[in-house]
Amino acid sequence: MTPISAKDSTVAPAFDEVGLHYDRLTGMSPGYAAQLRSSARVLTGMLARRPAPGEEPLQIADLGCGSGASTSALLAALRETGSPFRVEGVDGSAGMLEAARAKEWPDSVSFTHAQAEDLPDAGTRYDAVFAAYLLRNVPDRDAFLHHVWRSLRPGGVLVVHDYGVAGRPLDVAAWTALSWGIIIPSAAIVTRKRPNLFTYLWRSVLEFDSDEQLQERLTRAGFTDVGLRPVPGWQSGMVRTLWGRRP
Ligand SMILES: C[S@@+](CC[C@H](N)C(=O)[O-])C[C@H]1O[C@@H](n2cnc3c(N)ncnc32)[C@H](O)[C@@H]1O
Repeated sequence: MTPISAKDSTVAPAFDEVGLHYDRLTGMSPGYAAQLRSSARVLTGMLARRPAPGEEPLQIADLGCGSGASTSALLAALRETGSPFRVEGVDGSAGMLEAARAKEWPDSVSFTHAQAEDLPDAGTRYDAVFAAYLLRNVPDRDAFLHHVWRSLRPGGVLVVHDYGVAGRPLDVAAWTALSWGIIIPSAAIVTRKRPNLFTYLWRSVLEFDSDEQLQERLTRAGFTDVGLRPVPGWQSGMVRTLWGRRP
């Protein structure tokens, strides 16, 4: 069996078989939805444009939208702004999108099946891009970030929400204990499959950028106002919110 690796784009197809179980799995993680909402609020707090009703809607992309948990978080945060908006969820896994599309969404939400790094470079169309648990999985992170930068309007923002423990031995130990003690066994029971995707999750988080490396990556891709903070709650040392703006 081919090992799952971000380097050869095998991550999104590997999600196909867990799509219908994904919400049950994340439902077992206390705070998963609340942490996504807190990152979505970082995004809405940074919007450069605040259209009034009747004006041109905000265009927001949710890259790696999966079964729609991050899309729901965006919807909740965007509704709080009072501005009109459109959200485009994009995911490389047909199985995850099937789970997303099975839910009820307003007309302002649409879904597209595509690898995030292969999106056509239509240029300066998004006011904001949200990428929750995606960046770790794309084959060439620098190229991807620059691609996102090009797809933003001037003033547009990127918010990344993802795991990261590099450089903090206590958080590395906590992540390994959580992965092997809870996530991997629970996923094997719920999905009744070999837990390859979840051993990949453990490994990929250990190998992912430190906070400093992530911020440097955004700066290298051309983003300004770059910042990072841990999410609130018990996963504070493991999940972080990162942001940057296209000047
Ligand atoms: C852990 S899930 C997160 C889903 C959602 N954002 C959330 O917060 O619940 C990661 C998603 O990213 C998708 N994905 C991984 N690599 C991708 C890529 N290169 N392009 C598009 N989607 C990708 C997977 O198919 C999966 O649905």
